[in-house]
Amino acid sequence: MNFNIIRAARAVLNVTNLEESRRFYVHALGFIETESDDKHIYLRGLEEHTHHSLVLKKSDEPSVEAISYKVFAEEDLDTLSAFFTEKGYRIKWMGSGSQKAIGRTLRVQDVSGLPLEFFATMDPVDRLLQRYDLYKGAKVQRIDHFNCAVTDVEKAYNFYINELGFACSEYTTADDEKIWAAWLHRKPTVHDVAFMNGVGPRLHHVGFWLSDPMSVIHTCDVLASLGYGSSIERGPGRHGLSNAFFLYLRDPDGHRIELYNGDYLTSDPDFKPVKWDLDDPMRQTFWGHAAPDCWFNEASTVLDIHTGQAVETGDPKLEKKKPTIII
Ligand SMILES: [Fe+2]
Repeated sequence: MNFNIIRAARAVLNVTNLEESRRFYVHALGFIETESDDKHIYLRGLEEHTHHSLVLKKSDEPSVEAISYKVFAEEDLDTLSAFFTEKGYRIKWMGSGSQKAIGRTLRVQDVSGLPLEFFATMDPVDRLLQRYDLYKGAKVQRIDHFNCAVTDVEKAYNFYINELGFACSEYTTADDEKIWAAWLHRKPTVHDVAFMNGVGPRLHHVGFWLSDPMSVIHTCDVLASLGYGSSIERGPGRHGLSNAFFLYLRDPDGHRIELYNGDYLTSDPDFKPVKWDLDDPMRQTFWGHAAPDCWFNEASTVLDIHTGQAVETGDPKLEKKKPTIII
């Protein structure tokens, strides 16, 4: 391939009430509000040096407009456009200036139907890493990854590995060695995107990096103090897969956010992907306790980049038993 995808860089989520979203993301979780207007809130973590990593857009229904990757250079966008077009995908250019703070942007529905976006440039802003006086809530540092439910993980895995240049850090297989879930990366951590077998395409969660596990614990205290106890869906705990400390939250519209800390370096080309057996309970939660059913069953609707309508989901026709999403 002749393009260079750098990392997961932003998500564009549609929400129904910007004030409620602001209270949750800014006042409770401590995201930095870079800018806002009557239809958008642009948020970033304390470590981030670009305008935003999360856009909340006012809408009638909650949904996902795009999950977005930063590429190395402007030319990569043209190469990606040619690549997808040659493969028969209908791409869409978002003109420079059509979106706040971001340059020319390419969108495409990926092999699973997920609304992908690629961009090369975003307006720089002050990095607030050492403005400890501004730290509050979860003290969110940066965006880390997307996690998506798709009906055919092997198809997604093959496309991202063979065509888009991702590498696999960890994966789950069943007895027949079919891949049920995969953690794929461009930046040298465990993942930029994970695919899980389930009703899809849907966005399961956006993961944000925290500086340490105590920040996860502190987040729970802050959320409880502010009356957000019911927003805590799963955790805190440690994943077997990725080894990361985690906390899953549901925002006021039901979008799932993961607060995440403590995975590991994956830069070496001879790193061997870690294989997990579907029957191993430690892969989901290292400590062995079960996740709630809603974590398996519920995820965010994704939109068609051309029509703006919800993408129809498919069912991988797993056995009728729960869970419907298998990691
Ligand atoms: Fe995650």
